[in-house]
Amino acid sequence: MTERAAGGFTTRQVHIGADAAPATPRAIPIHLTAGFTFDSFDDAAAHFGSGDGFGYSRTGNPTVDAVERKLASLEGGAEALLVASGQAAIAVALLGLLESGSHIVSSTHIYEGTRGLLLDNLARLGIETTFVDDIADPDAWRRAIRPETRVLFGESIANARNDVLDVAAIAAVGEAAGIPLIVDNTFATPYLLRPLEHGAAIVVHSASKFLSGHGSVLGGVIVDDGRFDGTRAGRLFPQLARRGPDGSPSPWERHAGRARIAHLRESVAPRYGPTTSPLTAFFVGQGIETLSLRVQRQSENALAVARWLDARPDVAAVDYAGLPTHPSHHLARTYLRGGYGSVFAVTLHGGLAAARAFIEELSVITHMTHLGDVRSLVLHPATTSHARRSPEQRTQHGVHPGTVRLSVGIEDVDDLIGDLARGLQAAASVAEPDVAVVA
Ligand SMILES: Cc1ncc(COP(=O)(O)O)c(C=O)c1O
Repeated sequence: MTERAAGGFTTRQVHIGADAAPATPRAIPIHLTAGFTFDSFDDAAAHFGSGDGFGYSRTGNPTVDAVERKLASLEGGAEALLVASGQAAIAVALLGLLESGSHIVSSTHIYEGTRGLLLDNLARLGIETTFVDDIADPDAWRRAIRPETRVLFGESIANARNDVLDVAAIAAVGEAAGIPLIVDNTFATPYLLRPLEHGAAIVVHSASKFLSGHGSVLGGVIVDDGRFDGTRAGRLFPQLARRGPDGSPSPWERHAGRARIAHLRESVAPRYGPTTSPLTAFFVGQGIETLSLRVQRQSENALAVARWLDARPDVAAVDYAGLPTHPSHHLARTYLRGGYGSVFAVTLHGGLAAARAFIEELSVITHMTHLGDVRSLVLHPATTSHARRSPEQRTQHGVHPGTVRLSVGIEDVDDLIGDLARGLQAAASVAEPDVAVVA
């Protein structure tokens, strides 16, 4: 409606200006709208028939689409689906592949939120998970597979021990059984590692972390390799390969190798509904534009900080895969390109008292439950993220009373080391001399 058009006050306040001047913005335009007008009657019918174009923001939005294309390209995938959080990405990816009676084989070294999803929420839907402890042993994964297994799941770099997943070996175990490997690549980012290039079928991320980098929004993404083979794996995934009850073609018939991600986009994400806002997608996209620069700098800072901490007598252990002494160092060298990441655990002599004093003394490094931010962050896993684990489980996962998790940011490294030195000094003044590492 134009300014000169007739109309009452209320009609004009709603309609004038809705047709914003056409222009080509350099930044990704933010299409903050619930939906889109159809150009014609036939357009509407075509959209509902084939899914082409944009109709309603829960099923597709140009801002979200722009960020999805960026992420699919960076991960080397065929297609990406952006959702509201990392947890939503993991839940949607799993719910698209599993049904009651299905079974998951997962690394035991995964984010606690994902562990809860598997052990509690999905278990209540009749989906069971077997956890693999020795994730470096492909036979341990192979032995855990059952006839009803539909997914292998692991993290590229896992909290808290910094274990690096042997993606090619575990993907090969899945491939032999027609089962996709899903890799949570949050800690490594596609800049350091692209799991799809090593045989993983699906990558998920918490985009709230490194992809955004600014810590302003939550987001999640699923990237699919587009290599689903319905002829081979269709019997395991009837939702992808079987025709609809009305005889409509299956996702495999309509989308071939992209059947998995098409199914998530058409039938899983819009129905469960963890839609991301176009405004959030914009912020994620802004973050991604500097991803390589940040991850490079953060990895350099992290290596310097890890080396410095490792040389300190008051530090019992530094679990950083970038250090040659780390059990995953050979895998880190194989898989990570351009750095070793920037999130790792440090265990102080002196137990809980030392960890508390250390964290309370830090001023450059922020105390919060988050990671992958431009700011360096610290957290005490034993009393926060891993508080619900038994002491034995915490020990098995490298979480001791004196363990703190660092997410190293982009600050000047001397300022970080200065802050850590003050923290260690504070820790030394309260440390209980006889407290062993695991006390
Ligand atoms: C490895 C990993 N995956 C997934 C998530 C969940 O992401 P979000 O907080 O965006 O839901 C997190 C959150 O910390 C994480 O560390």
